[in-house]
Amino acid sequence: MTNALGEHIEYLTLPGRNALYRQAISATLRDGDTVADLGCGVGVLGLFCLEAGASHCWGIDSSEAIHLARDTMQRAGMADRYTTIAGSTFRTELPEPVDLIICDHVGYMGFDYGIVRLMQDARQRFLKPGGRMIPEALDLMVAPVSSDVCLQKAAVWGQDPVPEQYHWLETLNRNQRFAYSFEPEELAGAPARLGRIDFAEDAPSLFRFEAVLQIDRAGQFHGFAGWFDCQLAGDVRMTNSPLDPASIRRSQAYFPTLESFAVNAGDEIGITLRFAADGDPIAWTIQPPRNAKRQRLSTFNARALAPEDMSRDQGRPPVLGKVGEARAFVLAQVDGQRTREAIIAKVLEERPDLMPTPDAIREFVETVLKRDCSA
Ligand SMILES: C[S@@+](CC[C@H](N)C(=O)[O-])C[C@H]1O[C@@H](n2cnc3c(N)ncnc32)[C@H](O)[C@@H]1O
Repeated sequence: MTNALGEHIEYLTLPGRNALYRQAISATLRDGDTVADLGCGVGVLGLFCLEAGASHCWGIDSSEAIHLARDTMQRAGMADRYTTIAGSTFRTELPEPVDLIICDHVGYMGFDYGIVRLMQDARQRFLKPGGRMIPEALDLMVAPVSSDVCLQKAAVWGQDPVPEQYHWLETLNRNQRFAYSFEPEELAGAPARLGRIDFAEDAPSLFRFEAVLQIDRAGQFHGFAGWFDCQLAGDVRMTNSPLDPASIRRSQAYFPTLESFAVNAGDEIGITLRFAADGDPIAWTIQPPRNAKRQRLSTFNARALAPEDMSRDQGRPPVLGKVGEARAFVLAQVDGQRTREAIIAKVLEERPDLMPTPDAIREFVETVLKRDCSA
């Protein structure tokens, strides 16, 4: 449970964020509206909606935080107007369409926590015709980076004290999108708008944006920073820009180079960014000045591959692995009659070979029953 508390206090205490959501709700919500809070966490956005006059809110979350949302609404005397749904929004069906969908899925650069797919699915299945959404749209911002401190995040696998045998992993590491809090002086030029995503429009299967970054000062080019300027409702906007004093102070995204290169004031760097609606994988290219070789990177290249990832034959029928077989055996014992203890006893008696020790079997059965069964 400490994980949920640790994670969600971060969202609840971001400077200005709660006030911006309250403003957006007050500009959007009509008295008596029904609401779906997507990825509700501890339920705070739904709580704001109920306080602002919503008649009912469905809070949906796939993590344990959903239980904190339920208990909070009970304590706040709002349980009759708030229904918690534990699970993924993509597998949720609501009893009726709602007037408003709301979420805070904007990650570090707006698109990278999967908001586009989340909102599109919810708009198509949960929202009444003419219903409203918070947020409404995203502007994606980028700026050139020159910062040894930031570069260190990307280059760390290739340096002391990492043993030499692991230095090859620097290339994989540079193909990642990092979270980093930029100081204004770590940006080597003014920000550019990379593109806009409007949640009222159907999303393409693959987004592709490009921009030209203007360099304002000579130095080494270490990649680019990305952040969001999110239109919550009308002119109520929320940003994590490192240049905006009203920023909610969430980290930004850092996209490294494969290799750093020297730049002069007045240079132009061409970049492209491609990503799918669920935010991953992300691919980016960097075109250095003076026609130097274009650099191509992708989070796809940063994966640690299992042997079966490399040799997967799509035509072959799948077979259960060891854990899958154990899970199937446990679930086969669930007949609506046996208690938890009886199921554990049966598994221990009939399949003591499922796990290395009786304790491991007990723990495994408990986990499977908790995940896949209701009491
Ligand atoms: C950034 S937190 C925001 C929590 C809360 N809405 C707030 O504003 O403080 C995102 C939450 O969405 C949940 N989540 C992410 N994807 C989800 C999905 N597809 N279905 C349900 N919950 C999801 C996570 O478990 C997490 O609690």
